Amino acid sequence: MKPEICLAPLKGVTDAIFRTTYAEFFSGIDWAITPFLTTVKGARIKLSHLKQVLPENNQDMPVVPQIISKTAVNFIFLAQTLFDLGYTTVNWNLGCPYPMVAKKGRGSGMLPNPDAVIAFLEQALPVLQGKISIKMRLGRYRAQEAETLLPLLDGYPIDTITIHPRTGVQMYTGRPDLDAFERCLSLTRHRVIYNGDIVSRAVFDKLQSRLPQIKTWMIGRGVLTDPFLPAFIKGQVIVAEECLKQFRGFHDALFARYQAALFGPSHLLNRMKGLWSYFSNGFEDGQELRKKIHKSEKVDHYCDVVNRYFDGHPIRRPSCETGEW
Ligand SMILES: Cc1cc2nc3c(=O)[nH]c(=O)nc-3n(C[C@H](O)[C@H](O)[C@H](O)COP(=O)(O)O)c2cc1C
Repeated sequence: MKPEICLAPLKGVTDAIFRTTYAEFFSGIDWAITPFLTTVKGARIKLSHLKQVLPENNQDMPVVPQIISKTAVNFIFLAQTLFDLGYTTVNWNLGCPYPMVAKKGRGSGMLPNPDAVIAFLEQALPVLQGKISIKMRLGRYRAQEAETLLPLLDGYPIDTITIHPRTGVQMYTGRPDLDAFERCLSLTRHRVIYNGDIVSRAVFDKLQSRLPQIKTWMIGRGVLTDPFLPAFIKGQVIVAEECLKQFRGFHDALFARYQAALFGPSHLLNRMKGLWSYFSNGFEDGQELRKKIHKSEKVDHYCDVVNRYFDGHPIRRPSCETGEW
C-alpha cells in the first residue's frame, strides 16, 4: 500500500495559492493542514484569514484547517465557523515553537501544562460539531512533556496526532529524536502521523522501515526544496529532462498568482524570496542563485535573474534521489 503523504503547514508559505498551484503541477500529496489561524477575542473572525480556508480557494487539495489558541471559547467559535463551511475536522496547534507564541502559553507553550490541555478539551469537545486532530512537538522544553500528556489524551476522541519529534526550544536544530518518537507511539492509542526532516526518499525509506506502524507522513520543507519528492516516494519515475520545465511552470504560475493577489511589488518580492530560500536548496548551484535573488529590489530584476537562470539550465537534477540525513 502506498504511504499517505500530508503537506505540513508553513505559515507564510503553504497558503491557498501555493497549495492549489502545487496540486496543478505535481502529484503525491494526499491532503494538507493549513498554516494556523489565530482566534480573536469575542465572536469575531479575520476575513483575510478566512480567505485561506474558503472551500472555493481549496478545490485542488483537500485541507484540514489549523487553529492556534489556548482559550477554548475562542477556539470553539472559530472551529464552528469552519465546520459551517463544510470542514469535518479542525487541527489544534500544540507545536508552534516561536517564543512570542510559546511564552504566552500557546502552541508548544501549552505542552508543559497538561492540565490546561485537558481542561481545554473538556470544555471544547462536548460542544464541537466536528472532529479535532492535534499537531504537536515532544514538548516545549523536554520530551517528557509529550510522554506525560499522551496517555491523558487516550480518554478523548482525537482524530489523529501529528508529532514532530523535537522540542519547542530546539526550534529546528539537531535531529528529530526518533527514540522519543517511538516512546510516544507506545503511549497513545490514537493514530499518529510522523513529521520531521523527510528530505529525500532515502530518509523516507529509513523512517518507514523503522516505524512500520506509521501510515501517514507529513512533509514540509522537503516538499519546498524538492516538489517532486512526494511523487518520488510513491514510486513515480521522475524524468530529469522534464524537471526544470515542470518546476519553471510551477514557479511562473506562483509568480503570476501572487502578483495578482498581493498588494504591491515589495510583498510580491518578499513572498518569492521566501520561497527561494527553500527552492534554492534543490539546485546544485542554488546558493549563488539565492543570493542574486535576495539582492533583487525590483520585480524586473527578479524576473531577469530567474529567467536567465532557467534559460541557462536545461536540466534540474531531482535532488530527491540523493539527499542524505
Ligand atoms: C516557516 C515555517 C512556518 C511554519 N508554520 C507552521 C504552522 O502554521 N503550523 C504548524 O503546525 N507548524 C508550522 N511549522 C512547522 C511545520 O509544519 C513542520 O512541523 C516542521 O517544518 C517540521 O517538518 P519538516 O521537517 O517536514 O519541514 C512551520 C515551520 C516553518 C519552517
